[in-house]
Amino acid sequence: MLILGIESSCDETSAALLEASEDGKLTVLSNVIATQIETHALYGGVVPEIASRAHLEAVSAVTEEAYRTAGKALSDTDAVAVTCAPGLIGALLVGVCFAKSLAFSLGVPLVPVNHIRAHAAAVYPGNPDLKPPYLGIVVSGSHTSVYRVTDYTSFEEIGGSRDDAAGEAFDKVGRRLGLAYPCGADMDALVASFDGKVTTPLPSPHVKGSYDFSFSGLKTAAVNAIHNLRQKLSLTDDDPLPELERAEMATAFTNAVTGGIAEVASLALDEYGNMPLVLAGGVAANSHLRRALSTVADKHGVPFICPPKNLCGDNGAMIAVQGFYEFLAGVRADESLNAYASEEGAEAAGVFLPKN
Ligand code: KG4
Ligand code: ZN
Repeated sequence: MLILGIESSCDETSAALLEASEDGKLTVLSNVIATQIETHALYGGVVPEIASRAHLEAVSAVTEEAYRTAGKALSDTDAVAVTCAPGLIGALLVGVCFAKSLAFSLGVPLVPVNHIRAHAAAVYPGNPDLKPPYLGIVVSGSHTSVYRVTDYTSFEEIGGSRDDAAGEAFDKVGRRLGLAYPCGADMDALVASFDGKVTTPLPSPHVKGSYDFSFSGLKTAAVNAIHNLRQKLSLTDDDPLPELERAEMATAFTNAVTGGIAEVASLALDEYGNMPLVLAGGVAANSHLRRALSTVADKHGVPFICPPKNLCGDNGAMIAVQGFYEFLAGVRADESLNAYASEEGAEAAGVFLPKN
């Protein structure tokens, strides 16, 4: 069957076509992404109103391009999957309204998709042997969640961030280091360039005795450390931090993030038993985090699986993949489908199957 996946929850408008064969083999035929990063970078973060308007301008063209590059016609579509939660409400509504109209006019099922679950689903096309159960850690710009994934549509959330998301912390600390939004990839490169000794002490984001995180405390400690260092070096507001200090700070912060997430992964594998470890979401593109979790997986003798880097950030292919499994589980929506800023909102409205 051919599934169209539509994503518009934040600052990427994306449409993808996924072919699912009878035996369950998944092939991404196209995955077109129109990013708004340059626009939002001017403001140092995503401006919701601008994001909604940009989605509206891009969604038709992105979808047409997805069909063109896949060599498919609209009439080949068997189902339309769309992100309906969580995310920016105005942004989500653009994708939801577009998907509703398309599914209705084509007379095919409409499948609502949870964006966070879809991040984890991005691993399936490249790893046909992976089957739940697995430990899924989704680290993005808005979420940091730890799941025991017991089935393709059953996600038991065993931990997560109590405040900021890891990606948000990367972006805030990166900005203080003079990097452009979003700062994750540049932080990654800065850390790779550093071969000195880390001297800045920063707290772990792991909330002991749980599988939870607090990135807010770590973020504040890093911002304060940067401020103190600037004072010590007598820098004015316009002076950039010297390269070596900048790289040391980025490394201290990244080590704290990766150390905390690795600790939680290790504890969860100890408690829930050995199963594959899956890392997904925008921050899963981070090479240092990948290495740290790969070491945890090796120690537990379990496979470590990540999506390819082009499927870590927001994209329509992951929505189509999760949409396929939700479709098989019988999840459907009609023209009354709404968009929800939070997972809880969508669950309360009965949009998805219960979590467990
Ligand atoms: O999953 P995503 O594309 O959007 C949300 O659903 O939030 O994640 C975006 C986040 C941004 O905060 C960005 O800075 C971060 O992913 N990111 C990274 C890297 N690449 C992207 N963070 C750390 N290291 C990277 N290499
Ligand atoms: Zn995302």
